[in-house]
Amino acid sequence: MSDRTRGRRLLVRDLAQLATPSGTEAPLRGATLGSVDIVEGAYILCEDGRITAAGLMSDLGTLDGEVEELDGRGLSAVPGLVDCHTHACFAGDRVDEFELRATGASYEELHAAGGGILSTVRATRAAGEAGLAEALRRHRGWMRRAGTTTFEAKSGYGLDRETELASLRAIREAGGIATWLGAHAVPPEFADADAYLDFALAEVLPEAAQLAVAADVFLEEGAFDVVQARRYLEACRAAGLALRLHGDQFTEQGAIPLAIELGARSIDHLEATGDHGVRALSASDVVGVLLPTSAMFLDRPMPPARALADSGAAIALASDFNPGSSFCESLAIVSSLAVTQLHLTPAEALSACTVNPAQVLGRAREIGRIAPGFVADLVLLDATDWRYLSYHLGADLIASVIEGGDVTWSRDVG
Ligand code: NIG
Ligand code: FE
Repeated sequence: MSDRTRGRRLLVRDLAQLATPSGTEAPLRGATLGSVDIVEGAYILCEDGRITAAGLMSDLGTLDGEVEELDGRGLSAVPGLVDCHTHACFAGDRVDEFELRATGASYEELHAAGGGILSTVRATRAAGEAGLAEALRRHRGWMRRAGTTTFEAKSGYGLDRETELASLRAIREAGGIATWLGAHAVPPEFADADAYLDFALAEVLPEAAQLAVAADVFLEEGAFDVVQARRYLEACRAAGLALRLHGDQFTEQGAIPLAIELGARSIDHLEATGDHGVRALSASDVVGVLLPTSAMFLDRPMPPARALADSGAAIALASDFNPGSSFCESLAIVSSLAVTQLHLTPAEALSACTVNPAQVLGRAREIGRIAPGFVADLVLLDATDWRYLSYHLGADLIASVIEGGDVTWSRDVG
């Protein structure tokens, strides 16, 4: 609860629709993934930053005392969107590489030539802590305007002690949930990945573990192999961090079995995952995080989302917002691609942008649903049908964003 919302009541009234994932469990998988409760003609009452009631306008009794009202006519409400995979803490951009890719250079070639991730590492190190925090605040504003009320962000563009810890501090100060991506790439001052990990685990992990909730590793050819990933993740787990992996982005390197064995919260990307991986993941509690804007931005195959959903895997959607492989902060655009490219239904996409990413972040009991007791994080769409979230591709769709019962962005006032 912020000071602004303490003791305050906000009534969102006369909504055309309210839509929220059904039930109370998390993660949603199998038949429950696509189950959404819809109320036509709805209200939502927020008190002290939490939702205290929601339902039919016709059931709303008289409210005594002071209540601020928000007119929901012509709008529909969905839970505030939860982005569980971003690299929003970066300085600079990669627009030059973006242009080079159009003329034939591949993402992997740029990376191997010292560009790619390492070019953002140079810009991020050079920005200094204040410059980096300012860049992140700017990116956080973009995400908010796109309807994201909870965001995770990873370090991984510092890869030295000072900049990694500055990144994690900046993410927390911007209200984000911090992940230490200490194993993102090998910086040029180290001879190889093992020498870099010797340094990162001895010199950075002890403090990173105090600032971050989870650790993440890029397990891929040209980054970290499965032996190195295991070493990094086991050390991070021993330091109290939850585990995440970037796996099967370009090639299958054993990331899914490792994630399952170590009890990771999620494995993210999965564009290269084959049938065997789909079966293994579906039989596990590891959430598969799908990043369709990243696949599209790199002109790569889409992950096998339909096969994962049909076989009962727990899946989430995220933006992967970063300057190289997914310069897109909008979960509405992600939802649209989830329907048109991944063949999920709008309802499955909604659960995968709310309840299931909340589960990945360890917050599913308090965010991701419009229900009494949940944090009053809401997105009001400029549409009388909530499915416009995925239907109206790339549109000016978000009318208002409410965080903890506070209107933090509204199109009318900018
Ligand atoms: O998730 N694959 C590794 N990391 C990021 C890309 C980071 C970058 O290109 O700057 C990803 O796609
Ligand atoms: Fe990523």
